Amino acid sequence: MNILMVCLGNICRSPLAEGILQEKAASAGLNWYVDSAGTNGYHVGEAPHPLSQKVALINGIDISAQRSRRFVAEDFDKFDKIYAMAEDVVSDIRRIAKNKFDKSKVELLLNELYPGKNMDVPDPWYGAEPGYHEVYSLIDKACDMVVERHKV
Ligand code: 4NP
Repeated sequence: MNILMVCLGNICRSPLAEGILQEKAASAGLNWYVDSAGTNGYHVGEAPHPLSQKVALINGIDISAQRSRRFVAEDFDKFDKIYAMAEDVVSDIRRIAKNKFDKSKVELLLNELYPGKNMDVPDPWYGAEPGYHEVYSLIDKACDMVVERHKV
């Protein structure tokens, strides 16, 4: 399985999702490739937000080596599953991917946790540390479901 986690900036939510799912897949003995990207490109080349790094480390995950990259249409060739953190991200993915867009590969991450509810992972970008803990907890639970659903 090749799985891509996508948010807007690729500095707050999707780096957490990448780190968390990598850790869970490895712990489950799964040979998965997990990456992340952002649709807006404003932070390309940057490390994850300090609070995402802090909250990840508190939970035993080091995401400091990650660097933000922009989502590209060709990601549809490389990845089996593309998880969007929010509905606006799905719209961006559709716009960027154009004719490569494959609806069957794209899902809101929280639909793994709350099927059919179409809930967003809240954007913690403008907020303080508690928001990052909330985001971590939601993504952590959703990634448990991702492993359960897709492990062979
Ligand atoms: P993220 O948060 O999508 O979870 O990485 C954001 C980070 C930066 C911006 C928006 C969202 N921004 O507009 O710069």
